[in-house]
Amino acid sequence: MVNLTKFSSIFIANWKLNGNSLFLKDYYEKLKVNSNNCTIICSPSIYLKSLKGNNINLFCGAQDVSSYKEGAYTGELSASMLKDSNIDFCLVGHSERRQYFAEMNDNVNIKSSNLIEENIIPVICIGETLEQKEKKLTEEILSTQIKASVPSSADHQNTLIAYEPVWAIGTGLTPTLDEINQVHELIKNFDTKFRNFKVLYGGSVKSANSKEINDLSHVDGCLIGGASLKVDEFNIIIS
Ligand code: 13P
Repeated sequence: MVNLTKFSSIFIANWKLNGNSLFLKDYYEKLKVNSNNCTIICSPSIYLKSLKGNNINLFCGAQDVSSYKEGAYTGELSASMLKDSNIDFCLVGHSERRQYFAEMNDNVNIKSSNLIEENIIPVICIGETLEQKEKKLTEEILSTQIKASVPSSADHQNTLIAYEPVWAIGTGLTPTLDEINQVHELIKNFDTKFRNFKVLYGGSVKSANSKEINDLSHVDGCLIGGASLKVDEFNIIIS
């Protein structure tokens, strides 16, 4: 399992359903990994083994994993298959999986547990919708999501948490810096178990705001969607 403690920050590119072989070739030729940070590229599964370069701080992450270990589950990829392909990280419970693929906290919990068993670090995503934020339900929603999604085997060395407000994803909107820092502090204090977890922020992170977000005292890195598809912009974010 990757030793998370040796990195000052963690940056994850979530390409979602984007990219092709040509895109990948160009991307990896231009990518400039910073040696103090951990950089993880979550490409679509079919490209996971295409990661070029032997930089020790550059890792592959999957965007999802099956909750089943093996068997008659057409279309699925198991945690042990990811391990077999040298994958070190996997996003779990992204809001798009929760919204479009009916992923629930209990699936996220099982998937994360299976990943930890295979020495893959789950990146467990949580976040409130705009409606929930406006009703001042953020704390309650996040607390429920984290307590139900994080398996008992999780600890700060084998699991990452990503706070992604649903309303900030792909919209160009972000919470204020104070709000981000407060929510991250809140997450780390939901339970003593979470105190030392690394918590990443995601939602409209770009080169213009990544430094001020990542510099916040309770932010340990960023999860980047749209801006991670532009390698020059991503290079600035991870520099
Ligand atoms: P954007 O950076 O495009 O807002 O997406 C965030 C995200 O969903 C990363 O997982």
